[in-house]
Amino acid sequence: MLYKKLIEYSKSSVYPFHMPGHKRFDINGDGKLPYKLDLTEIYGFDDLHNANGCIRDIGDTAAQIYNVDYALLLINGATGGILSAVRSMTKRGDRVLIARNCHKSVYNAAELMGLKPEYILPGQTGFGLFGSVSPGEVEKKLTEFKDIKLVIITSPTYEGVCSDIGKISEICHAHNAMLFVDEAHGAHFPFNEAFPVPAVHQGADAAVISLHKTLPSLTQTALLLTNNNTLAEKFSLNTAVFETSSPSYILMSSIECCLSYLKNSRTAFDEYIDNLTLFYKRTKTLKHLSLFDCDNRDIGKLVILTDKTNLSGHQLAGILRKEYQLETEMSSADYVIAMTSVCDTAEGFERLYKALSEIDNNCFTAERKSNRLNVELPPRRFFPCEKDDYKAVKKSFDKAVGCVSLEYIFAYPPGIPLIVPGEVLTEKICDCINYQIRNGVEMISSEKNMPHCLSVAEL
Ligand SMILES: Cc1ncc(COP(=O)(O)O)c(C=O)c1O
Repeated sequence: MLYKKLIEYSKSSVYPFHMPGHKRFDINGDGKLPYKLDLTEIYGFDDLHNANGCIRDIGDTAAQIYNVDYALLLINGATGGILSAVRSMTKRGDRVLIARNCHKSVYNAAELMGLKPEYILPGQTGFGLFGSVSPGEVEKKLTEFKDIKLVIITSPTYEGVCSDIGKISEICHAHNAMLFVDEAHGAHFPFNEAFPVPAVHQGADAAVISLHKTLPSLTQTALLLTNNNTLAEKFSLNTAVFETSSPSYILMSSIECCLSYLKNSRTAFDEYIDNLTLFYKRTKTLKHLSLFDCDNRDIGKLVILTDKTNLSGHQLAGILRKEYQLETEMSSADYVIAMTSVCDTAEGFERLYKALSEIDNNCFTAERKSNRLNVELPPRRFFPCEKDDYKAVKKSFDKAVGCVSLEYIFAYPPGIPLIVPGEVLTEKICDCINYQIRNGVEMISSEKNMPHCLSVAEL
């Protein structure tokens, strides 16, 4: 076991004439940072990019636990996995179909590979929260663009909404396209029946899961999962391109510890589900705030809606932080996401419930203009990978309607672009961005020009 080996080695008298340069010396002297366990590819410790020893064993265990043929360790988050998977599943210049609510790493991958993206707009709830991707819409696009090679979908979304991956994968395969699912937020799905069925088990060709998001694993740890041997080989080549050649042994051993926890944690997941069920039952009595729900959803994501109250999601998050010392994951104009995991305690749920019921008693019903948040697909003048062919001019954002953006604009989190390079800034999109800004959401653009101005194309 890698973790045990690291512990044993840290106690040994072997002198390190090798990297890392801290030489296992705790420069802070307080034992808080794990210098002693931070090794590199020395004799007996295997090599992530050519694994055939203790690191390979971790991958094999992961494949067994996730019930797939191949699981590749990632130490650069789902981001590294997405870049590697998209490169493995496409050829330069291919046409791909991307669900518009994909994370920015998918757009970056498409740009790096010079791909031609078509987009599919998932269903919308009216308060800036995307619903599921319609299999019928996927079919329509694949019929319209017969050369689409890869379909990329986020399921679950940041808010826990899942799509019908079974149906979508059948449709993709019938049109000779592969399906890659960004399942970054669904690493916990196999561990209780109350969660949706994992993507690869429903027929997706591959999926990426972020262990660090919803399971007890250190930040940056993730896995690429597939049952396809050829893809697994390509993933292995491409993770070596997109990830560091000095992968952290601490992160890899954290994956191993997480897997070992998962093997023995069925009852912990049962308790987690009990806590969630009780929380949803109790919050049904709230008068103004409410909990988002829909079919085929990860109940572990608590999405607290403020859309019918005098509070913006951002204000609610501020109150929870300042008055209750509860830090939430993300706030938007009309909702707040509180992320939970198997490591949450009954006390944690109780604190959140009490805080919400007090806040609920003190707020009132108000008409908010959240329907402004329905997003549309703007007209496209060129693909994002062509943006460097255009001369950039800076335009004040309040005068940018009708211009063609050279930047991505998104709120982070969740990092889903509202506009991508090459698209026209319609009045509706600008309205939606301004609505978010007025409600305290920080809108970022890729060149950091927002909210004041934006690089647009001189046409
Ligand atoms: C849906 C989704 N995919 C991918 C990522 C990237 O994941 P990571 O931070 O593990 O690189 C994120 C990050 O928030 C995300 O929300």
